[in-house]
Amino acid sequence: MEILSLQNDCSLINVDDLVAEPYASVISYPKADNSNLDDILAEIKTLGVESIIFEGPTRIGGLEVLGKGCVGIVVKAVLNDRIMALKVRRADANRPSMKAEAKFLRIANSVGVGPILESYSKNCMLMELVPGQNLKEWLSKLHRKETAPLLRSIVRDILDQCRRLDDRGIDHGELSNASKHVIVVDRPIIIDFESASTKRRPRNVTSCAQYLFLGGSTSNRVARILRILPEEQIIKVLRQYGSSAQDGPSFAELLRRLKLTKKNE
Ligand SMILES: Nc1ncnc2c1ncn2[C@@H]1O[C@H](COP(=O)(O)OP(=O)(O)OP(=O)(O)O)[C@@H](O)[C@H]1O
Ligand SMILES: [Mg+2]
Repeated sequence: MEILSLQNDCSLINVDDLVAEPYASVISYPKADNSNLDDILAEIKTLGVESIIFEGPTRIGGLEVLGKGCVGIVVKAVLNDRIMALKVRRADANRPSMKAEAKFLRIANSVGVGPILESYSKNCMLMELVPGQNLKEWLSKLHRKETAPLLRSIVRDILDQCRRLDDRGIDHGELSNASKHVIVVDRPIIIDFESASTKRRPRNVTSCAQYLFLGGSTSNRVARILRILPEEQIIKVLRQYGSSAQDGPSFAELLRRLKLTKKNE
């Protein structure tokens, strides 16, 4: 948990000052429509947020934020001297509210996956801040041999989280392109459950393994560092896992066949 230790930081803006530009059109993105802005500000206050810190790797206009997607703008939020991540629904998002995403994140949390959900409202979701880099950036900074054990343990951890989601019956829905949906801090955290479902058959392990080892934007790098099996064999191993019971023993067998078990380190 990041604890607030800022003094006179000009990126720290009190909630009451968000009504003015340039903050208003970031909080009510893409434009500061009055009634939408009023709703969001009232909700932010009800959630207990005292101020917002405009700081992060993404820029909107002249302000920095943690991230910007099709559904939301994510900013650092301060409450009770703690810094959390606040996802604010975009006015042009194709979702009526943050309720479904919060519900799925809570289910993921129940099996120890995802940033911990603090609270939510129609337009806002407050969660644990994950101060890391997305998987793609993290991987691009890894060097070959000396990092193989670290990468292997991160990959194993991601797949183990996927298995727990599978077991719980929740499909994340976007792990076949995991580069932006996994943030690596000291361990990997799966984010963004807005496309999740408990109605589809969960395919988190196989989708994410496909991304990591086969077609994903970083799979060549993963394959090179971990010296994993040739593609045809991975496809075969994943197919066999897909038609297995997908329980603890079949998952252990999958890790063994992918040479991801600890004894390979
Ligand atoms: N809890 C968090 N802590 C830190 N950064 C976060 C957190 N949640 C999201 N982010 C950052 O904000 C970005 C956008 O978040 P998210 O993917 O949830 O939004 P989205 O609108 O659903 O995006 P997309 O259109 O890509 O699906 C993420 O890629 C990540 O960089
Ligand atoms: Mg999303």
